[in-house]
Amino acid sequence: MAIIAPSLLAADFLHLETACDLINESQADWYHLDVMDGRFVPNISYGMAIIKQLRKASTKFFDVHLMILEPEKYAEEFKDAGADGLTVHLEACPNLHRNIQQIKSLGMKAGVAINPHTPVGLLVDIINDVDLVNIMSVNPGFGGQSFIPHSLKKIIELKNLILQKQSAALIEVDGGVSLQNASSLVKAGTDVLVAGNCVFSSDDPSRTISELKSL
Ligand code: DX5
Ligand code: ZN
Repeated sequence: MAIIAPSLLAADFLHLETACDLINESQADWYHLDVMDGRFVPNISYGMAIIKQLRKASTKFFDVHLMILEPEKYAEEFKDAGADGLTVHLEACPNLHRNIQQIKSLGMKAGVAINPHTPVGLLVDIINDVDLVNIMSVNPGFGGQSFIPHSLKKIIELKNLILQKQSAALIEVDGGVSLQNASSLVKAGTDVLVAGNCVFSSDDPSRTISELKSL
């Protein structure tokens, strides 16, 4: 049974409180919060001001996915806004180990995300330091894209690396997750399913969350 993390990027931004109520009352475990800076990715989403408001509406785990350059400049502010976990991109962090230590020293779970073109092998010297690896199964920047099939192989590779290195890192899959592909992702070793459009564009988001949870 995977951890289900609906992505608020796909929610109606005019009615975020309604989306929070829905997630709170559903079987979802986490909130997945996508922060984009228009530099690391070609889109801008929302930042700490919104997260701070959302924090008032929920006690569930806030999984904050930073698609930004120089995340070290903002880690403390995201902690203060209510982040429980902070994930940074390997491609955005020339001093990744330092970023991970900073996040942990602030009392948050530390995650690293890798883009579709980034090999799992590059995680070998960081896998024992992180709490989570986010395998991006679309190119980051937008919700509603199609799952890149090659990602399945990367999940299996990552699972093997985690077992081999006796790491406690969770495997998160982010992008294009659907009711059609989710069960193969869980079978391959996924611990956390991020789901944006699959949840919020469905007729019954709460039921969709339950269906993902029951896989
Ligand atoms: C994409 C984000 C994802 C996105 C997923 O850059 O990191 O979290 O919200 O949305 P779906 O599930 O619609 O692909
Ligand atoms: Zn994300």
